[in-house]
Amino acid sequence: MKRVLQRTPVGVARTAVLIAAARANEQGRLRRLFDDPLAAGLVEAAGSASDLNGVRTLAGDHFVLRTRYFDDELLGTPQPQVVIMAAGLDTRAFRLQWPPGTTLFELDLPELVEFKEDALRDQLAQPACERVVVPCDLRDDWATALIGAGFDPKRPTAWLLEGLFMFLPPDAGEQVLYWVSALSARGSTLALEHVNRAFRELPQMKPVHQRFDALDARWLSDVEDPVEWLDGYGWHATVTHQVDLAARHDRAVPAITDPRKVGDARIWLASAVRTA
Ligand SMILES: C[S@@+](CC[C@H](N)C(=O)[O-])C[C@H]1O[C@@H](n2cnc3c(N)ncnc32)[C@H](O)[C@@H]1O
Repeated sequence: MKRVLQRTPVGVARTAVLIAAARANEQGRLRRLFDDPLAAGLVEAAGSASDLNGVRTLAGDHFVLRTRYFDDELLGTPQPQVVIMAAGLDTRAFRLQWPPGTTLFELDLPELVEFKEDALRDQLAQPACERVVVPCDLRDDWATALIGAGFDPKRPTAWLLEGLFMFLPPDAGEQVLYWVSALSARGSTLALEHVNRAFRELPQMKPVHQRFDALDARWLSDVEDPVEWLDGYGWHATVTHQVDLAARHDRAVPAITDPRKVGDARIWLASAVRTA
C-alpha cells in the first residue's frame, strides 16, 4: 500500500494529477499507446483524482493521444537537451528510451516538484537519462533558474509545452515563448499544445471551466493560429489534427476534438523547428 503524501498538489498543480490519471488508466489497456508504469503510484500518492473524473470522461482519449504525439515528437528528432515546461507528473524521463548523453530538465511550480520527487522516491523510480528538476514559476524569471541548473543555450534543445499555455495570462505566455526562442540554438525543436477561442467557449467545456475555476486553475488564454504565432518567434511549425492522430493509432476521434461535433473549435498540437 503506497502512502498518500501530506502535500498533495492543489490549485493549478492539481490538473497534473488529472493527466497522470488518464495515463494510469491507459496503462491498464491491452493495446496501449505508451507505457507509464509510474502514473498510478503518482495518482495514488495524491489521494486519487476522482474529483476530476468528469473532465477526464469529457476528454476521452485526448490526453493519451497527445501523450503519444509528444512522445513521438521528442524521440523523432533526438536532441542533447530536453526541456519539459510545466512537467507536472510527466514521467518521460523514466519511461522513454533516451539516447546516451541526454539531459532532461523538468520545470514546474515548487510545491508540485516537491510532491513529485517524494512520490517518485517512494516508487524507487530510476531515470533513463540525466534528469534535472527546476522548481520555478513560469510567470517569473525561469530562464535564469534553468541556466543555473546547467542548461546550455548553445546546444540544440527539444522543448515541450504540453497543457500549459491556457493556464498562463496572455503576456506571460508570450514571455515564455520569447525566452524559449531566445534560448534555442539553431536546429532546436518545440512541441506545444494550446487551444483557440472557439474551444474555450464550447458549451461542452462549461463544466470543465467551472471545475477548474473552483481549483483556481482558470484558463486565461488562447491562440487562433499557432503556425503564425510560432513563425513570429522564428519557428517553422506544423499542426497535427486529432482526426489524423486518432486514425494513426486506430482510436476513435475524441468527441471534444471531432470537427463534426465541435466545428472550428481546436485543441492545437503543434511541432516546430527553429529556423532563425
Ligand atoms: C494540465 S497540467 C499538465 C502537466 C504535464 N505537462 C502533463 O501534460 O502531464 C498543468 C501543469 O502546469 C503547471 N503550471 C501551471 N502554471 C504554472 C506556472 N505559472 N509555473 C509553473 N508551472 C505551472 C501546473 O503545476 C501543472 O503541473
